[in-house]
Amino acid sequence: MNDTVPMIEMRHVSKHFGNVIALNDVSLHVHAGEVMCLLGDNGAGKSTLIKTLSGVHKPTSGEMRVSGEPVRFKSPAYALDSGIATVFQDLAMIPLMSITRNFFMGREPTVGWGPLKRIDWKQADRIAMEEMARIGIDVRDPSQPVGTLSGGERQCVAIARAVYFGAKVLILDEPTSALGVKQASVVLRYIAKARNDGLAVIFITHNVHHAYPVADAFTLLKRGTSLGYFRKSEISREEVLNMMAGGAELESLDAELAEFQRTPAESQTASRAAIS
Ligand SMILES: Nc1ncnc2c1ncn2[C@@H]1O[C@H](COP(=O)(O)OP(=O)(O)OP(=O)(O)O)[C@@H](O)[C@H]1O
Ligand SMILES: [Mg+2]
Repeated sequence: MNDTVPMIEMRHVSKHFGNVIALNDVSLHVHAGEVMCLLGDNGAGKSTLIKTLSGVHKPTSGEMRVSGEPVRFKSPAYALDSGIATVFQDLAMIPLMSITRNFFMGREPTVGWGPLKRIDWKQADRIAMEEMARIGIDVRDPSQPVGTLSGGERQCVAIARAVYFGAKVLILDEPTSALGVKQASVVLRYIAKARNDGLAVIFITHNVHHAYPVADAFTLLKRGTSLGYFRKSEISREEVLNMMAGGAELESLDAELAEFQRTPAESQTASRAAIS
């Protein structure tokens, strides 16, 4: 157990949209050097939660703290200033622009001053290549459009950018959901690396098999309410799966699928037996 002050914390946060209660009294915390997986089904409130943490929504009630200090973000820019970087699912990248342009997004290093000030492309390309190499992605040409990278590599550019610009908290909304096994493993490895570099990571996913290997702790959301915060040592992969899907629902699905798998002859015998 970690008794230092959490890097980021939510205390009894609720978020209402008119009559819809998207979050109801949710508390969670993440320490530096830890990955906290936020799990929950469609509509559970995961995106609402991260949008609240990253300053897009204001909580209806409750409190948020960064390094123990209460914070109220007026906009996402304030959250970013506090070191909270969010990689949204749509990534906010421009496919036709180069890796370097996407990496810096207007924050490129410059040379000269006054009217002679201009972007130092040599330096920018070098940094972008170095930062990508650090996470094991070999960029041959930094002027290559981001659209030509694989989905996993694009996620990594977004994460590398957040880390390079000094994020303390990294929030990733379903970074692996559209990826195949190989690409997902590239992203998962990078998440583990960011954690080892001392970042506090909040990793949102539907996929327990992606979450379990990298997680230090889990928070489970169901219909806007937290089912609890669990350290990995307290909960098995099967227990997480059961809580997420609802064990009973999965069992009845199993029975239904077994019915489909019967050969026609078998189901005829079964239905004749049922009639007699
Ligand atoms: N701006 C909004 N106005 C009204 N209702 C909203 C708004 N944003 C979210 N909701 C509602 O809040 C609930 C939680 O939505 P949210 O998008 O946070 O779920 P989620 O866990 O991210 O789901 P998914 O896995 O499908 O992305 C849903 O019932 C949704 O309809
Ligand atoms: Mg969502």
